[in-house]
Amino acid sequence: MAKDLSFTCNDCGAVHSKWSGRCDACGAWNSITEDKALSSGPASKTLGAKRGATVHLTDLATQDAEPPRTMSGVGELDRVLGGGLVAASALLVGGDPGIGKSTLLLQAAARFGRNGLKVIYVSGEESTAQVQMRARRLGLTESPVKLAAETNLRNILTTLEAEKPDLAIIDSIQTMWADNVESAPGSVSQVRACAHELTSFAKKRNMAVVMVGHVTKEGAIAGPRVVEHMVDTVLYFEGERGHQFRILRAVKNRFGPADEIGVFEMTGRGLAEVKNPSALFLSERGTPAPGSVVFAGIEGTRPMLCEIQALVAPSPTAQPRRSVVGWDGGRLAMILAVLESRCGVAFAGLDVYLNVAGGLRINEPAADLAVAAALVSAREDAALPSDCVVFGEISLSGALRPVVQTENRLKEAQKLGFTAALVPQQPKRVAVPGLTTRDMSDLAGFVTEVFGAR
Ligand code: TYD
Ligand code: MG
Repeated sequence: MAKDLSFTCNDCGAVHSKWSGRCDACGAWNSITEDKALSSGPASKTLGAKRGATVHLTDLATQDAEPPRTMSGVGELDRVLGGGLVAASALLVGGDPGIGKSTLLLQAAARFGRNGLKVIYVSGEESTAQVQMRARRLGLTESPVKLAAETNLRNILTTLEAEKPDLAIIDSIQTMWADNVESAPGSVSQVRACAHELTSFAKKRNMAVVMVGHVTKEGAIAGPRVVEHMVDTVLYFEGERGHQFRILRAVKNRFGPADEIGVFEMTGRGLAEVKNPSALFLSERGTPAPGSVVFAGIEGTRPMLCEIQALVAPSPTAQPRRSVVGWDGGRLAMILAVLESRCGVAFAGLDVYLNVAGGLRINEPAADLAVAAALVSAREDAALPSDCVVFGEISLSGALRPVVQTENRLKEAQKLGFTAALVPQQPKRVAVPGLTTRDMSDLAGFVTEVFGAR
């Protein structure tokens, strides 16, 4: 019988019945290789005679303790890690160039070093002198961190094997180069191979490895998505260049809650943690102005208040602008459509700008109502009272839907001196002393009640 051959494109994953130099599906050249069937296991068409070993099976119940964790002592970092750094784990830290990844990791390395871990920091981007200079500026020269400037992965692994550190930081994965893979550093196959080697080395040698990954223009970590699947934890370091706030966000964490964030401030002496972000995000706030609304949000496990600003202006063009910073553009279009068709507030012929103050990025649907309030407030040129917070989800029918952790949001608002909240109707009323809540069931009612009959 003729052997069943199949060929797979390494770029897009398309399967072909014969080899060719160019993949028909994605157009990549030289990306197609033959699939080799795995010969192991019992009789099957593809498996042949060679048998594999039996795998040891075990119960779900275990007597083993939780994996050991080490705290850095920086509360914002430890919380994002899910309660400290886990031994024998692999982390990926992504972010735009210049956002402060190297600074963050050098500071973290110094903290972990002082807390008893043996730490090696490998820089593939900067010389040792550059990193030393930064360490001096950050006042970290006393910390027991070992430093190397190297990009050859084989040399790095040999060194790690000899030194047996508890934590290795690889800055960055795009500069690393495995000599058994024939492509330039930073290419998909290099990044994939290097990340795979480092991750499996970390698991085998009981070492934690942190890899820095650059982010492409589209916002994904450059290189294959597969790197994100390989590692245990993926953190993104975000922020607006012009702002001093930086946010470390866990987008995946096998050892803790995802979506947790840590807030830092970039200062002349490195990153400082921000213990009370709500106060900071609101501190830039001036007198109540039309278009400005305070949203009581939840980031990870923590309530966070921030200001949402909208500006509405007559558009000089036939295609009015819809510009958003810090929120989802598609969601803005939806809110505008609901305001128009359910509440009769039209935005046709008007440019709309929406901004989340302080460089924060909000993903919660709970911000819908605050956004709608900001938009109507800007359009009607009517400011909301300055002591009032807003939150709630809006459905396409114009109904307001209750959101999670209402009580935590209200408590945080009360703590920061707010005295009123505009919220969706709750199945069970939540009351927080010192705070008056006005609850409404639909957006049209909200607009009439807050901005008057129109
Ligand atoms: P860096 O950590 O090199 O960014 P990345 O590794 O993500 O590319 O950070 C570089 C920026 O941080 C640079 O623009 C200067 C600024 N910075 C400070 O403001 N204060 C400091 O103490 C340090 C070390 C850097
Ligand atoms: Mg860097």
